[in-house]
Amino acid sequence: MAKQEDKFKKVISHAKEYGYIFQSSEIYDGLSAVYDYAQNGVELKKNIREYWWKSMVQMNENIVGIDTAIFMHPTTWKASGHVDAFSDPLIDNKDSNKRYRADVLIEDYCAKIEKKIDKEVAKAAKRFGDSFNKDEFITTNGRVLGYQEKINTILSRLGKSLEKEDLADVKLLIEELEIGCPLSGSKNWTDVKQFNLMFGTKLGADAASAMDLYLRPETAQGIFVNFANVQKTGRMKLPFGIAQTGKAFRNEIVARQFIFRMREFEQMEMQFFVKPGTDSKWFNTWKENRLKWHHSLGLGIDNYRFHDHEKLAHYANAATDIEFKFPFGFKELEGIHSRTDFDLKAHEEHSGKKLRFFDHESNSSYVPYVIETSIGLDRMFLAVFSNSLIEEELEDGKSRIVLKLPAILAPNKVAILPLLKKDGLPEIAHEIVNDLKYDFNVTYDEKDAVGRRYRRQDANGTPFCITVDHQTKEDNTVTIRYRDTMKQERIAIADISGIINDEISFKKWINK
Ligand code: GAP
Repeated sequence: MAKQEDKFKKVISHAKEYGYIFQSSEIYDGLSAVYDYAQNGVELKKNIREYWWKSMVQMNENIVGIDTAIFMHPTTWKASGHVDAFSDPLIDNKDSNKRYRADVLIEDYCAKIEKKIDKEVAKAAKRFGDSFNKDEFITTNGRVLGYQEKINTILSRLGKSLEKEDLADVKLLIEELEIGCPLSGSKNWTDVKQFNLMFGTKLGADAASAMDLYLRPETAQGIFVNFANVQKTGRMKLPFGIAQTGKAFRNEIVARQFIFRMREFEQMEMQFFVKPGTDSKWFNTWKENRLKWHHSLGLGIDNYRFHDHEKLAHYANAATDIEFKFPFGFKELEGIHSRTDFDLKAHEEHSGKKLRFFDHESNSSYVPYVIETSIGLDRMFLAVFSNSLIEEELEDGKSRIVLKLPAILAPNKVAILPLLKKDGLPEIAHEIVNDLKYDFNVTYDEKDAVGRRYRRQDANGTPFCITVDHQTKEDNTVTIRYRDTMKQERIAIADISGIINDEISFKKWINK
């Protein structure tokens, strides 16, 4: 546990030190759970967004993108159910006066049991060596099965109680499990209460006529209310999808874990409209597609798992999370929801406008069903960034800090380094920069010994370094150094662009 916390602290301080993430309004001591993306962070974030956008919109003939406003007519949120049901179950500790999400307290309790399973697995792996079969072990070992059963029983009861809005039972469960306040250990709890997460604001100049608005808590509703516009103007036939990325706002109570849970964050969502009855098939297809997208980035197949929901949101008939192994354990990274026709029907009812598809084959019109894929851009950033930050032991006994970002996502693709600050080497290096900058982000660095500059670029996440030396003047060749392997090769200046473009080719990455 201490090791995990240590790793997470390193992630947070590296993100600041290397210009990825700053706390919002830091000079005023910051604003809780609100963050700014710095000069490198904004590039990494943009590249993740683009990797998602291309894979959704550019790669699929039947998916188009839109960009809708953050402010929406307030009836939107009545129709969607957010006014009545977008809330978290909260509990206060009477001694520490700290407020928690009741479901998170219980889930954290289960995560501790899961750690015990991990420990049993690690012990057995050590004992059995190469002959260890993890799958067999976790399905037969009595202690592991006992732990797993305990987790399942707790989560199933939690799911059912939340589903039935039985908040008294959620409190009872916390008491039965003897869960204490994480800060003080006190078990002196209030009752569990629901708390709406939407931020309210006002539109209009004077108080009397101002209209109450909400900052959108998800981007999805902007897609639903534009269903008919896009379908007609794009002449879209079922099945088809609408994608968008953009800011969402939630008044999160348990706002901790850095950019994992923020009050202002960005989502990348896609609503896939299908014929009723085909929803289950498309739900499975999108589960598979999305996992494949994650795997393509090479963050490690074992770092992902599905978590099917026991408690379904008010709009869903099936839902799963793609969980990622963050430094603080497996947590939700992306949600895939089968939303039925709930949203379109609700908007039809509240707006009085038809949101249907006319099916020429059956000569009838109906409200399509929807499969949604929804991923937090900031959470994806955290997954990529934390997974890439590595402290590596080297053969010479030294160590290095390296940010092994997937090259396609790295803020700077290449650093150009003149070996010395004289003999015309900086001039050649600048010429290379000026040539390459049309294709990708290039950085120039001439300060300090070249070894230190390599280390700096390693920590910055730059996948390639090009060193210009005296031989360059003779034969127009340079040294390319690869961040991950530290391998160095002599190549022609004319080949740099081709080599790097190949290393960051979208076609190559997405098909991995
Ligand atoms: N439209 C469906 C929807 O919004 P959700 O599970 O509430 O579903 C989808 O959110 C994704 O948005 C999550 O999987 C997560 O990646 C991201 N997300 C949600 N709340 C967040 C927060 N407070 N901070 C950062 N990301 C968040």
